[in-house]
This record gives sequence, C-alpha cells and structure tokens, in this order.
Amino acid sequence: MADEDALGRALAIARAYIASRGDRAVWPATTLDELRLALGGDLPAHPIDPATVIDALARAAEPGLVTTTGPRYFGFVTGGALPATVAAEWLAAAWDQNAALYVMSPAAAVVEEVAGAWLLDLLHLPRASSVGFVTGCHLANFTALAAARHDVLRRAGWDVEADGLQGAPRLRVIVGDEVHVSVIGALRYLGIGTNQIERVDADGQGRMRPESLASALGGGEGPTIVCAQAGNVNTGAFDPFEKIAELTHAHGAWLHVDGAFGLWAVASPSLRRHVAGIERADSWATDAHKWLNVPYDSGLVFVAHPEAHRAAMSQGAAYLMRTSSEASGAPPPLAPREGMDWTPESSRRARGFPVYAALRSLGRSGVADMIDRCCRLARRFADRLRAEPSIRILNDVVLNQVLVRVEPPGGDADAATRDALKRVQDERICWLGGTRWHNMDAMRISVSNWSTTEEDIDRSADSILRAVRQAVS
Ligand SMILES: Cc1ncc(COP(=O)(O)O)c(C=O)c1O
Repeated sequence: MADEDALGRALAIARAYIASRGDRAVWPATTLDELRLALGGDLPAHPIDPATVIDALARAAEPGLVTTTGPRYFGFVTGGALPATVAAEWLAAAWDQNAALYVMSPAAAVVEEVAGAWLLDLLHLPRASSVGFVTGCHLANFTALAAARHDVLRRAGWDVEADGLQGAPRLRVIVGDEVHVSVIGALRYLGIGTNQIERVDADGQGRMRPESLASALGGGEGPTIVCAQAGNVNTGAFDPFEKIAELTHAHGAWLHVDGAFGLWAVASPSLRRHVAGIERADSWATDAHKWLNVPYDSGLVFVAHPEAHRAAMSQGAAYLMRTSSEASGAPPPLAPREGMDWTPESSRRARGFPVYAALRSLGRSGVADMIDRCCRLARRFADRLRAEPSIRILNDVVLNQVLVRVEPPGGDADAATRDALKRVQDERICWLGGTRWHNMDAMRISVSNWSTTEEDIDRSADSILRAVRQAVS
C-alpha cells in the first residue's frame, strides 16, 4: 500500500512537471547552497514513509532541475524523452529486471533482440551485426574499440584477452583531428595512451581529410584501427566514409565510426547522402538518449563481427548460466540472447524497454520526421541569426548543430560572444552552451528535442538577438 502511494505521488508529480516543461525557466534560478540546504541534513535515523520521501525529494529537487526535456533546451546534444519512452522506463524500474542473462529476464533479452534488429534495419547496418545496450556513446565507443583491438591483434597472432597489451604487437590507432574526446577516453581505458594516437588533418568543418589518412596509413604497418566520425559535436559535419572505408580496408585495418548523433542521419532519406559508405565500417557507436529521445542513460554499439564483439566483452563463471536453445524452447541455432556478452557491464538495467518503446511509437517514418524536423529547425535558427549584421554562423548547417559567433565591428568578438551567451543563459527562455571552434569563442546550438516547434525557435532566436544587441552596444 505504501508503495502504491509513492508511485501515485510520483505519477502526479511527473505529470505536473511534464505539463510545465514548455513554460518552466529552462535553467534553474536556485543556488548551490539552497540546494544543499534543501536536500541535505543528517542521514535519517529511522525509516520514513515512501510517499513522504517522494514528496520531499520532489519539492527539494525541482528548483534545481534543468528543463532538458523541454522544447528550448539546446545545450550539448540533448534529446528529450518521448512519452512512450518515459512510460516504458517506469515499467522497467517497476519490473526491475536484470538484463545480464536470459535466465534473469527472458522478456528483457527478447526485447533487446527485437529492438536490436529494428535498429540495424533502420540504420541500414549489416543485419548480422551484434548489438550492445550500454550507458552512452562513450561506452559504446569503448565496447566497439575493444572488439576492434581484439580482432586486429588476433589477426596479428595475439590474444589480447589472455595475454594483455604488454608485449603485444604495437597497435596503431588513427583518428581525425576533430575526434570526440570520448574516443580518446575509450582508447585510454583500452591501454592506448593519448600520445600514442595518430591524428590526421581535418578540414574547416572538422571532416577527416582522406589524403591525410592515406599518408598516415602508408606511413606504418601492423594492426591498425581507424576512427571516423558521423556528426562533429560542434559543426555536425560528417567524415567522407566512402573514401575512408576504401583506404582503411585496403590497408587491412578496422574502421570504427563514432556516430553519437550523426548516425541517425541514416534513418532520414533526405540526409542519407551525407553518410554514404558508413555501412562499410566494422563498428558503430551511437546514443539513444540523444537524437532518439530516450531518457538517460542509453547508448548503442553495433559490431559487424559478432565473434570479435563477444570475445572482447564476454565473461564466464560457473554460476553465470547461459541458456541453450533447447532449454529456451527455440529451434537451434536461435539460442537466446545473453545481454552481458555484448556490454562491459554484467548486471544491468533493462535498457531495451525504452528503446523498443521509442522505435515502436515512432515507426520508421516517425524517426525520419523527427530527425528532419530538427535539421529544418536548426536551419531556421541559423537563418534568423545570420540576418543580424554582428552575427556570423561559423559552420555549414548540414545537420542539427549551429555555431554562432558575435563579431562587433572593431570589437573583441570572443568577449562579445561570451557576454551574449551569458545574457541568453540569464534570460532563461532557452539554454545553449559555449565552445571554442578554431580558436574562436562560439555559442553552440543543438536542436535535438522531439517537441521543439518553429515558435520555440523564434522565441529563442529573439532572446539571442536581444542578448547580442546588448552585448555589442
Ligand atoms: C560525437 C560524440 N561522440 C561521443 C559522445 C559521448 O556521448 P555520451 O556522453 O552520451 O557518452 C558525444 C557526446 O556529445 C558526441 O557528440
């Protein structure tokens, strides 16, 4: 009964929050001290009724929430939360399934299996690829690169899982100069230090230059991994995959693609031309919590060579029972999916449920519409802003990212850009973050939320224009 009360309270609070997200200030006005005071205090000495806990938690936490699910949050690359995904996430919590093994949750295993197949279809990736449900693209990059490390070293006669990296043939890793920091982080976890990574030139939009890759590949031998990118975190630009795949495979190297948000361009017939050749890679990493608008956390990894993926991730112990196809009642060779064979974690939340709900509620056309709409809105944003004489849009708006710089005639553009950004953030109508692009300060806009409308873009553009005019006056 007490549990039902807590759930009932949570439902009412969540409904009110969701209804308010279009009007709430996008960034909170509360201070760190106020939050510490509201949420802090001594560990309770005795139990407290769950509904009371939920009420108190919501009251204390809500003033410190950022309305990232709202339609005018353009920070980082942040998706909202589609209605079906929030509801599915709640069920996943109520069911509290462990998705590590089939025997722990047959439903979670089959949902991952089905959602995984839908994703391969939607993203036009090789149908026999393996799929892992991880926390985010950082861990998806880690998982894919662990599979890559396994495979290129195996081909060089080395078993990295058994013998480690000490004494292994030297592993070459080549990345574009605009590689995302999470690829560097993932490589570090895999024993490849930052200074050991070979960086090749990128062009003015951040795309890897194939001629630089060709000369890097030609400059050495041995087991090699190339990391390309779909969707630069600042500009949204895509590496030229056709050429990169050709060069990488001619060299016998493994091609990994970090497509945290850019991989979703495949799902849109109008954007697909930007990613031609991407299906020729060996592995891909992306996020569901970015452009698929699934709640945090949810990342996805795909590997065209399941045996390498499994070898890099899988662990065995007598008590971790795999289920045979006979025991599951399925005809061989359709043994059930064992989730922990494809992820760095063992015990794990059943992340497949909200991903499944997103795909089922949107369908193929709904995903394409959402991606296209965000891109159209990003172009509208850029058009509104570039009409202002003191604003320069620094990137080609090929996707959902817009880089905005304030350039007052004869003034300090970096300072004016930072000043305008602070004014926008203080007004709280919308929220954007800042960045540095080619040694220039810029405001960074990412349109990634399913619920954003043209009116939201216009209100936000008005706020930015007001801030810019004040900053340059
Ligand atoms: C290109 C790229 N790769 C990887 C990541 C890391 O994703 P996550 O923070 O979801 O792990 C991001 C995040 O913005 C990204 O833009």
